[in-house]
Amino acid sequence: MEPLIAPSILSADFARLGEDVTNVLEAGADIVHFDVMDNHFVPNLTIGPMICDALRSYGIDAPIDVHLMVEPVDRIIPDFAKAGASIITFHPEASPHVHRTIGLIREQGCEAGLVFNPATPLAWLDHVMDDLDMILLMSVNPGFGGQKFIESSLGKLAAARARIDSSGRDIRLEIDGGVKTDNIRQIAAAGADTFVAGSAIFGSEDYAATITTMKAEIAAAG
Ligand code: DX5
Ligand code: ZN
Repeated sequence: MEPLIAPSILSADFARLGEDVTNVLEAGADIVHFDVMDNHFVPNLTIGPMICDALRSYGIDAPIDVHLMVEPVDRIIPDFAKAGASIITFHPEASPHVHRTIGLIREQGCEAGLVFNPATPLAWLDHVMDDLDMILLMSVNPGFGGQKFIESSLGKLAAARARIDSSGRDIRLEIDGGVKTDNIRQIAAAGADTFVAGSAIFGSEDYAATITTMKAEIAAAG
């Protein structure tokens, strides 16, 4: 699967968001990672469907990858589908009916993904593999940008990659948290194909140079 760079707009300039997202896409980013936090499931508060809709109205046409860190999840899913989300991922701990929530996302015409916190076991995949388009592994505890990559995520990536390969399905394996130009090669080698990076891209002087370096490092992983 072609690798995708997914800048997390958590680290973008919210006062001129449309322009910043346009710039990062022109610099070579593939999809927009959209972090939704509710000050309940995670200790931070960010953005909702209105902002997703505003980005679409502004003219952003790249896929929008909505990472829901909210509880409950089901009520907000149709709102994000209407607001132009392409992929919607959620944490299994935040839904009492994980299979139903995955079905709801797909019924709304979006791709569906399950997100794993660092301590959340991959066993949640056992009975839903056939219904997933994406698996997202958190390599930090969710809530904030700019945290350090948790090294044990590499082994977990390899385990998730093995599950995907043996399923025979086209499921994306996304990694989120602490991804930088100097560790992305190792992360790609462990099996990720979709790379969220917030502070590493939006905190850099030259988005295009950073994204080009990231893509070269991924290619070097083979
Ligand atoms: C954390 C978010 C991440 C975050 C990543 O809860 O899900 O998407 O923005 O930021 P960096 O790349 O700075 O670790
Ligand atoms: Zn995220």
